[in-house]
Amino acid sequence: MGHVPFHYRTLDELKAEAAVLSAFLPLSEDMGPLFEPLPLGDLSAPNRIAIQPMEGTDGLPDGTPGPLTVRRYHRFAMGGPGLIWFEAVATKPEVRASAHQLQLTEQNVGNYRRLLDEIREISMKACGSCPVIVMQATNSGRYSKPTGVPEPRIAYHCPPLEPEPLDDACVISDDEHKSFEDAYANAAKLAQLAGFDGLDVKACHRYLACELLSAYTRPGLYGGSYENRTRFLKNCYAAAAGAITANRFFLTSRLNVYDGFPYPYGFGVTEKSGLTPDLTEPIRLIHELREQYHIPLINITMGNPYKNPHVNRPYDHGAYIPDEHPLTGISRMMQGIRDITNACPDLPVLGSAFTYPRQFAGNLAAGMVQSKSCAMAGFGRMAFAYPSFIQDLRANGTLNPKQICVTCGGCAQLLRQGTPAGCVVRDREVYRL
Ligand SMILES: Cc1cc2nc3c(=O)[nH]c(=O)nc-3n(C[C@H](O)[C@H](O)[C@H](O)COP(=O)(O)O)c2cc1C
Repeated sequence: MGHVPFHYRTLDELKAEAAVLSAFLPLSEDMGPLFEPLPLGDLSAPNRIAIQPMEGTDGLPDGTPGPLTVRRYHRFAMGGPGLIWFEAVATKPEVRASAHQLQLTEQNVGNYRRLLDEIREISMKACGSCPVIVMQATNSGRYSKPTGVPEPRIAYHCPPLEPEPLDDACVISDDEHKSFEDAYANAAKLAQLAGFDGLDVKACHRYLACELLSAYTRPGLYGGSYENRTRFLKNCYAAAAGAITANRFFLTSRLNVYDGFPYPYGFGVTEKSGLTPDLTEPIRLIHELREQYHIPLINITMGNPYKNPHVNRPYDHGAYIPDEHPLTGISRMMQGIRDITNACPDLPVLGSAFTYPRQFAGNLAAGMVQSKSCAMAGFGRMAFAYPSFIQDLRANGTLNPKQICVTCGGCAQLLRQGTPAGCVVRDREVYRL
């Protein structure tokens, strides 16, 4: 079945459509499991709902959180999430995704510290709990736009992403990787000073560390074999680990276990699997990170927000109409999350892309946690539209259809324009296209 926009009035209608599509969509009306605490290494998340990283393109020119950044995190904190996965923060100025992407520096670390204190205080006052807070450290690689115009730095030429091949000068040399890796030591040092609980060595959505995972065609130290393709990510971990001084500070990743591109241009597929995920390598990588760096959780995602956003965040409205049913997209994501959970039973898995089922999104989150398909459910667009959704789930066991995200794509469009991103439907006094 092709693309069919959301039209379900009841949970039973949604279940019936999922059954027709043979979609894996565990749905539960019991919200209890979402409000159980979750041990994460030496820490504990007060509940099983996370805010996924949502870049707002609203930092000041030097990377300091701007007034709208502060407003977004205050709103997230009010809902009392179990974990906030703080948005992409650039590890070097030349690999910022926009002139307004956040960047943590010696000069502005105090501003971050203040914001984190406020987040914890607001959440404590509103809900009696403090979220675990992870900083996403990024190198935008192919999507670098430090002054607002593209300055791509790529792992290899990737035809699905390059209708016109980019200049060879965009390809990062083996030697250049070293300074990009070293930047993760500084990111870890500053993240600890700011008061984050952990650092995400971001490896998703085809930003640099993610793109390298599929660099089959790249010659040299960073391409070809599994060992070479994972070298950058592991070197970034080694650099960050060497800078850890704070007790209980941890490393983790938001990891694409599937990119949605065929071999030899995507991670999580094999020569023979076509576009069907094959999670053998992602599972091997997660085991290695767990063993070597004691990651206390892993955040699983898929797809590329530029080329195949329907894989990353199934939607009703976007730049193109996908040729798959949105519930099939959700099912691919939920199956991937479940398969990683089953393969790594001792490691808490945070799942992505829970927003699409609208007023039934809480039922999917509860169903996934209750069926032990993931340990924690992460919401992106819903948090922009309806920041108090966690309070409503806790208090009423349901979401208000008048406040939910309608997956219109407006927030992503604002992000692509390089203007502050937020909900153009539910928060339209602030955000307009
Ligand atoms: C405006 C916008 C900004 C985003 N920023 C980030 C980011 O900084 N880091 C990241 O890993 N993912 C980012 N994402 C992806 C989301 O975290 C999430 O994976 C995606 O929206 C799917 O989840 P959802 O269905 O709950 O929205 C962003 C998505 C949008 C729409």
